[in-house]
Amino acid sequence: MMTRVLPPDERGLHLAAAILGDGGLVAFPTETVYGLGANACDGRAVAAIYETKGRPTFNPLIVHLPSLEAADEYAEVAGPLRDLAQAFWPGPLTLVAPRKPGPLSDLVTAGLTTLAVRVPAHGVAQAILSAFDGPVAAPSANPSGRISPTTAQHVLAHLDGKIDAVVDAGPCQVGLESTIIGMEDGAPVLLRPGGLPAEAAEQAIGAKLRVLRPGQVTAPGQLESHYAPVAPMRLNADGPEEGELWLGFGPDEHGGANLSEAGDLREAAANLFGMLHRLDTGRPIAVATVPDIGVGQAINDRLRRAAAPRG
Ligand code: TXA
Ligand code: MG
Repeated sequence: MMTRVLPPDERGLHLAAAILGDGGLVAFPTETVYGLGANACDGRAVAAIYETKGRPTFNPLIVHLPSLEAADEYAEVAGPLRDLAQAFWPGPLTLVAPRKPGPLSDLVTAGLTTLAVRVPAHGVAQAILSAFDGPVAAPSANPSGRISPTTAQHVLAHLDGKIDAVVDAGPCQVGLESTIIGMEDGAPVLLRPGGLPAEAAEQAIGAKLRVLRPGQVTAPGQLESHYAPVAPMRLNADGPEEGELWLGFGPDEHGGANLSEAGDLREAAANLFGMLHRLDTGRPIAVATVPDIGVGQAINDRLRRAAAPRG
């Protein structure tokens, strides 16, 4: 794949939006760091993000929107979170709020019932979001384990040839990821320090933010047996045994559900959460072997968690 370097002019921005619409990956500047964007409603495009970053797990992603009104379509931004949105959006602040039912791919939230939403202030990010006219999932545009990119050159250093385009608008002003604030037990909590000082947020809501100790579980997705179906799951199965439901991968004669009959890992990733949900009927589930390469690693990570003994 040839990665196009697009200028932040009208043609470049509309091309970027068109590539997103076609299910492609576009890196673009925000005021914090460069993000790796995909259409948040397109499961295969979101799977391509995980694959390109080489993320071995499905971490939930931040959905970028042009305004609070647009964010209201996807998340329940209420109480102190709404005060924060009104005070600091657009800006380097991400809010984790209850997800509303709708067209977002389950891969974006990694199956969680909360959604991280952010309204970036960068003019180029704003222009792409407006031209695309839909939710854009975007983690920082770096391979997993590398530092976040603050120039288009940083993005290209690792992702050249792996993504469709990067919009080059020079260095990011903040240079540090957004501050993430969510709610726990009815109180606002700081989930990640970042570009917006916590003190500024505290001043806006007139209350202290609770800070989670490092290592304390924040996203329930990190819990070993979260999203586990109620019944036992058997992995790397050759086929269903008596009484088991089947979740296949690749062509087979077992009937039942299939993550991807074509054996396409991105399609499998896009189908994973929805199918686990539908198969969660109380009957045991047997799952075919999924190749442990590319986004298959994240699929297997999630399957192992789902099959883990319950605590
Ligand atoms: O500044 C930023 O926030 C950049 C730019 C591109 O917007 N994006 C960014 O995304 O830093 P990423 O994927 O590198 O970090 C997102 C963080 C992850 O640590 C993830 O676990 C957390 O947000 N997150 C996302 N959804 C969440 C949720 N529902 N609950 C808790 N944490 C969530
Ligand atoms: Mg990151």
